[in-house]
Amino acid sequence: MKVRLFKPSLGDEEIQSIKDAFDMAWLGLGPKTREFEKQWTNYIGCKESVGVNSCTAALHLAVSAFRFPKGKKVLVPVLTFASTAMAPIYNGLEPVFVDVDEDTLTISLEDLERKCDKDCVAVMPVHYGGYPAKIDEIMNFAKSKNLKVIEDCAHTAGGEYKGKILGTWGDIGCYSFEEKKCMTTGDGGMICSNDRELISPLKSSRWVGMNKDTWQREKENSISKSNSHWYYEILELGYKYNMNDLMASIGLVQLKKLPEMNKRRMEIIAKYLDGIKDCSSLKPALPYDKNQKCYWMFMLRVKNRDKFISFMQQKDIATGVHYMPLTLHPYFAKYENNTPKAISIWKEFVTIPLHADMTNEEVDYVIENVKAFDLLE
Ligand SMILES: Cc1ncc(COP(=O)(O)O)c(C=O)c1O
Repeated sequence: MKVRLFKPSLGDEEIQSIKDAFDMAWLGLGPKTREFEKQWTNYIGCKESVGVNSCTAALHLAVSAFRFPKGKKVLVPVLTFASTAMAPIYNGLEPVFVDVDEDTLTISLEDLERKCDKDCVAVMPVHYGGYPAKIDEIMNFAKSKNLKVIEDCAHTAGGEYKGKILGTWGDIGCYSFEEKKCMTTGDGGMICSNDRELISPLKSSRWVGMNKDTWQREKENSISKSNSHWYYEILELGYKYNMNDLMASIGLVQLKKLPEMNKRRMEIIAKYLDGIKDCSSLKPALPYDKNQKCYWMFMLRVKNRDKFISFMQQKDIATGVHYMPLTLHPYFAKYENNTPKAISIWKEFVTIPLHADMTNEEVDYVIENVKAFDLLE
């Protein structure tokens, strides 16, 4: 048996939806993207969503929405994917790395308070593996320091904290639909907010700074027959970051399947928690809550990580490591900022397979081998 770490859950419904886009012969930014934005807005329960081609783009544009003066600082957890910390840099701002909470692996409030100074303008909490950051406390802190909050929701789609959907707590929430994530559009992302005025201008930023997209111009040509249908203005420096209708056609189907996919991942996590509860050389990396609606990945803390990875490799079980603290990467080394907890605990992290299509046989096979490894230790 060969068990994949992540796998998009795809079927005939997605192919049919792509076929609809083919039949319309409109694959770029158009009606399907608008429909997906509308349905996502309803699902999350926010006021406005802007579809883009990745969460990396979403984070870049989300930071740009505030027009912070260049050189200001943005607080970012050191345990995250590169894109969280690159977003401030793309905007001429400086990332300030903050340590994580040892239990939840999300941004440490204590360290946040220590590192926040008068030049800090925003904080970007990450819901790590779908595990919620203490976003209520972060919001209170942010309010007291006049910081904007951009939630990096790349690892969650429908997860909640204290009954409120992650991504709707902060000023802006950014999601990822990259192929390994909770749901996919191949690559893709979404920027969401309850502040329409804040993020509506990002529709032009994602479309090379133009105030009218091609679909709008096409409609003006074919429906209203205006002879100035072609006219648009470039209002500012923009990017080619738009979501397209091919992506959105997959997203519309995936969104319908999301509650089921989330449920299946939660079932598998419950099996893992039960299956490995007596192991002594390893444990779940996070205090997973069986009542949560959505986690993206399942991580262990294993004392002898390299040996565990080799053992799993021999059994054809894929593993991963999420993540090495960013300041250990050559590019981010210059931002090193005293984050001792992350630097010591990450060495035990191993991600094991979790995806909605995993069969019970695959889950049992993984558990059996995790236990077999533990017995050898
Ligand atoms: C925490 C986090 N933020 C942002 C991203 C970027 O997402 P995308 O691949 O959609 O650009 C990722 C990707 O894995 C991520 O893990």
